[in-house]
Amino acid sequence: MSEVIVIANQKGGVGKTTTAVNLAASLAVAEKKVLLIDADPQANATTSLGFHRNDYEFNIYHVLIGTKKLKDIILKSDLPTLHLAPSNIGLVGIEKEYYDNNNKDGRELVLKRAIANVQKDYDYIIIDSPPALGPMTINALSASNSVIIPIQCEFFALEGLAQLLNTVKLVRKSINPSLSIKGFLPTMFSSQNNLSKQVFADLSQHFNGKLFKDQKNKYIVVPRNVKLAEAPSFGKPAILYDVKSVGSIAYQNLAQTIIA
Ligand SMILES: Nc1ncnc2c1ncn2[C@@H]1O[C@H](COP(=O)(O)OP(=O)(O)O)[C@@H](O)[C@H]1O
Ligand SMILES: [Mg+2]
Repeated sequence: MSEVIVIANQKGGVGKTTTAVNLAASLAVAEKKVLLIDADPQANATTSLGFHRNDYEFNIYHVLIGTKKLKDIILKSDLPTLHLAPSNIGLVGIEKEYYDNNNKDGRELVLKRAIANVQKDYDYIIIDSPPALGPMTINALSASNSVIIPIQCEFFALEGLAQLLNTVKLVRKSINPSLSIKGFLPTMFSSQNNLSKQVFADLSQHFNGKLFKDQKNKYIVVPRNVKLAEAPSFGKPAILYDVKSVGSIAYQNLAQTIIA
């Protein structure tokens, strides 16, 4: 059975998609069978792997409204063991639909039920979530074994974190008791920047046990690295764009830690 990990933070631009894509790709290069589920209507994870709206007919929206099975929308990526369940801007409709039918039972469990049918086919299922704590993110948290929370090493980094942790608590209480916090991942860290160091210091003070460490027992911090920002425009994860870049190596280390 696969391990399902959601990458979540309701703030936009903190590195969720970059983490989802590069963690998924690094796990796949380590010969794990991986499904990346793009659960954000912005479909950035989908385009990061080189897929454009005309390349596929169906997407996760069709799975959530029940017209397609998850296995019917899955695309093969450039990496043999990495598959993608794409998204599309049409997914914004799901929020409305879910609110309109707000007494429909089990609507938080639609994604979980869809995943159950493919779970035996993968070692890891990574879910990229939208920058909100709405129905999509609740579905993703309900379907997951654990959550990775990327924290951008910039001003206001920890703002909103209490709300996110509270949402995790609520999901645990009401729907998914075994949901755990896999860890906090500092992103866009810049050693030149005192603010970055301050954010890291705050994180290690509050959540030390929940920071990832590599095989050499060093903290895993994703540096600000232009290769990570450039790779999506080539439709590639960083590991296929520049395998030796410091950004890609950070995600390879994260993958190794998760496998270990
Ligand atoms: N470590 C990093 N170094 C440099 N640029 C990054 C890094 N992580 C993310 N980015 C860039 O920052 C922007 C926001 O990242 P993204 O992963 O899309 O965040 P989110 O999914 O949380 O909105 C993107 O343009 C991305 O390429
Ligand atoms: Mg994103």
